Amino acid sequence: MQFSRFGSRLGGNTGIVQLMDDLGDALRTNPNMIFMGGGNPARIPEMEFAFTEALKKALADPQESHHLLGVYQPPQGDVDVLDALAQMLNDEYGWPLSRKNIALSNGSQSAFFVLFNMFAGEFDQGVKKQIKFPLAPEYLGYNDLGLGENFFSASRPKIELLEKGFFKYRIDFSQLHLSANTGAICVSRPTNPTGNVLSDEELHQLNEIAVAQRIPLMVDGAYGTPFPNILFTDIKPHWNENTILVLSLSKMGLPGVRTGIVIATEEVIETFARANTIHNLASGNLGPTIARHLLKNKQILKLSRDLVAPFYKSKMEAAVQIFKQALGDLPYRLHRPEGAIFLWFWFKDLPISSEELYQRLKARGVLVISGHHFFAALEEDWRHSHECIRVTYCQDAQVIAKGAAIIAEEVKKAFVQG
Ligand SMILES: Cc1ncc(COP(=O)(O)O)c(C=O)c1O
Repeated sequence: MQFSRFGSRLGGNTGIVQLMDDLGDALRTNPNMIFMGGGNPARIPEMEFAFTEALKKALADPQESHHLLGVYQPPQGDVDVLDALAQMLNDEYGWPLSRKNIALSNGSQSAFFVLFNMFAGEFDQGVKKQIKFPLAPEYLGYNDLGLGENFFSASRPKIELLEKGFFKYRIDFSQLHLSANTGAICVSRPTNPTGNVLSDEELHQLNEIAVAQRIPLMVDGAYGTPFPNILFTDIKPHWNENTILVLSLSKMGLPGVRTGIVIATEEVIETFARANTIHNLASGNLGPTIARHLLKNKQILKLSRDLVAPFYKSKMEAAVQIFKQALGDLPYRLHRPEGAIFLWFWFKDLPISSEELYQRLKARGVLVISGHHFFAALEEDWRHSHECIRVTYCQDAQVIAKGAAIIAEEVKKAFVQG
C-alpha cells in the first residue's frame, strides 16, 4: 500500500517510536528488567486516594456521571473547569485570565502537535519557519511532532561546572540565533531530560527576545508550576500575552487520563480549539472531571505543594546518594536536579557512545535512555551529546540501588576496556 507523505512520516521509523518499541520489547523479553527509562510518574498513594474520591463523587451523582460519560464538551473543554482554572491562576499569580484564555486537550503531547504546527512549517509566499529550542538537550517527544523537514532547531548550552561533581546547563544567549524564520521559542521548565529549571532571569531574557521578534514563547510546564510542582528550586511562575503555557495532569499521577491544558491569548486559544476539534472532536471528560473536584478549595495546589513536591524531593535526594555511592570516583558529573523526575549523568570522554552504553545496560537488565535522543534538533554533532544518559528515580530505593550498581560496573568497564 502506498502511504502519503504524512502517512510515511508519522508511520515511519521515527525516533520516538523506535525508542518506545525498543523499551517495550526489552520489557517483554525480560519482565525483571530494572526500568529506569520511561517518563511514567511514581505511584503516590495519597494522590491515588484523592483521584479515586473525586471519581467516586462524580459517579455517585447521576447528573455528573452523565456529564462525565455521556456528553461531548465544547471545543475548548468543560466550561466549569476552564472558569475554575482561570480563577485559581488569577488568585494565585495575579494573571488576567478568563475562560477564553484556556483550552483543554487530550494530553499535552497532542497539544504540542497542534501548537508547533500552528507556528512553524509552511507560510505564505514559500516562507518556512522553525520552532527554536534555546537549549538542547530538550524533551525527545517534541522531535517528530513537526509536519515538515528541518522543523526544529536548537542551540548548545553553556556548561557550568558546580561543586561536588554537579553541573548545570545555561542558555548561551550569544549563540541563540533567531531569524525571520523562527516561528516560536519552546522550553520545558523543569526540563525533561535534565531536571534543569531555567532561572527567572533566563526566562525573562527569552521573553524579551520573543516579544521583540513578535513570536510566542512556549513554556512546557508538564512538571512545573502550579501543578504538579515537581520543583526543588524557587522560581516565579510565568505567563503574559506573549506566552503559551502548557500544563498537564499526567505527572501528578494521571498519565492515563490524557489531559493537557493550554493557556494563551484568546486568538491563540480560538485557533487551537478549532484545530483540536478537527482532530479530536472533543477532549475526554475523565481528567477534567477529576480536576473539577481538585480545583475546589484549590486542593490541586495543596496536593502538589504538600505531597507531590516533597515526595519527589526525597526520592531525588535518596537516588543521588545511592548513585554517588555506586559511582564512587568514576569520572562523572550529575546535572543539578532542580525539578522533574530524572537524573542526568554526564560521563565526559566516555570511550563508547551513550547508545552503546544503553545497549550494554539493556543486556544486563537495566533500562535507561541514551542522551543523544534529546539533542536531535542540534544541527551539528556534538561529542557531549553521546556522553550522557537519563535515569528515572520513580522506583523503590532497592531497585534504584541495583540499577545504580550495574550502571557503575558498565561505566567502569567502558572507561577501562572501551
Ligand atoms: C516535558 C514533557 N512535556 C510533555 C509531555 C507529554 O505529557 P502528556 O501528553 O502526558 O501531557 C511529557 C511526557 O513525558 C514531558 O516529559
